[in-house]
Amino acid sequence: MAKQLRLAVFISGTGRTLKNLIDRIRAEQLSAEIVVVVSSVANVVGLQYAEEESIPIEIIERCHYESLNEFSEANFSVCRAARADYVVLAGYFRRLEIPKDFESRVLNIHPSLIPAFCGKGYYGNIVHAKALEYGVKISGCTVHFVDQEYDTGPIILQKSVDVYEGDTPNSLNDRVFAAECQAYPEAIELLAQERISVKGRIVKIAPLKDQKRGGEIDF
Ligand code: GRF
Repeated sequence: MAKQLRLAVFISGTGRTLKNLIDRIRAEQLSAEIVVVVSSVANVVGLQYAEEESIPIEIIERCHYESLNEFSEANFSVCRAARADYVVLAGYFRRLEIPKDFESRVLNIHPSLIPAFCGKGYYGNIVHAKALEYGVKISGCTVHFVDQEYDTGPIILQKSVDVYEGDTPNSLNDRVFAAECQAYPEAIELLAQERISVKGRIVKIAPLKDQKRGGEIDF
């Protein structure tokens, strides 16, 4: 039986990832509830999804804090107060220092197959433009735990998509985003089922114990 996870979802923009998680929870495909949405930017479009669902919102902007440490603490204090089990970065564009008590409890999704096309400065369509420029034949998305650097934490799961001749950053983004909409809830559900363990860089996924759910995750 999956545990009902309490998620803090962090956004900075359009909130499509947040919307997907809300939809999955509504469809009972995700054993979770979103206890707080934190935005690094005031008045972003994505906040409307939190408002529609009456999810508490916190705006925490980097410019109001002197150091990265203070900024990070402000964010994680909100998560502690909301008793969040996991922090889900969902189109969140700020670096955070991960405190000890949140190690292996912060997730991110990146729109490439890490370690390709990732790291500082690789976000949004820049990632897809670089992939196309390089001439890769597959791309995809990566769900990973967040450590103290950009996109370097242990990988939970990846999904690939084909790259077609004539693809543009926008068309590749659409295909990768569709894969993201599967991958992120799938990874979170694995956590809810307590099937994930981390040793160093390696994430292991245990087989499903509860066969009543049909033996597979329904995505
Ligand atoms: C996607 O590129 C995702 O990989 C990255 O943020 C983008 C989605 O942002 N983490 P949003 O959910 O539309 O705000």
